[in-house]
Amino acid sequence: MPEITLKDDGSFRVPEGRRLVLALEDNGIDILHRCGGNAKCTTCRVQFIRGEPTRMTEAEKERLEARGLLGEVRLSCQILCDHDMTVVPVNRISNSDVEDAGPRPADTITPTPIWIDAPPPVDSDTGGK
Ligand code: FES
Repeated sequence: MPEITLKDDGSFRVPEGRRLVLALEDNGIDILHRCGGNAKCTTCRVQFIRGEPTRMTEAEKERLEARGLLGEVRLSCQILCDHDMTVVPVNRISNSDVEDAGPRPADTITPTPIWIDAPPPVDSDTGGK
């Protein structure tokens, strides 16, 4: 079972293949998922400290590109827990002005995933150059 670690917030183990957004929510993390896990809103974004997946869904890439976030954050609704990861959930009920996280995402990734290689993370020291 993969171990999910939250920077400054402990760790827990989750069933192999669990959607990361659900793994976080079901372990008490008040992460937002305002579009219901459909790669539309980016509120489920996480920063990776360790274990960033080397693949992503096309839907995730398109949404992050459209928001200028590609290489900086990942969408937890588009990630499966298949190895150990350390993350920082960015948008939470407790640090936002919304009253609920959003519709609960389905157990499987939506839309139906088309997997592609993830671009390398942007190097914060060089701006990716
Ligand atoms: S992009 Fe909306 S919940 Fe993931």
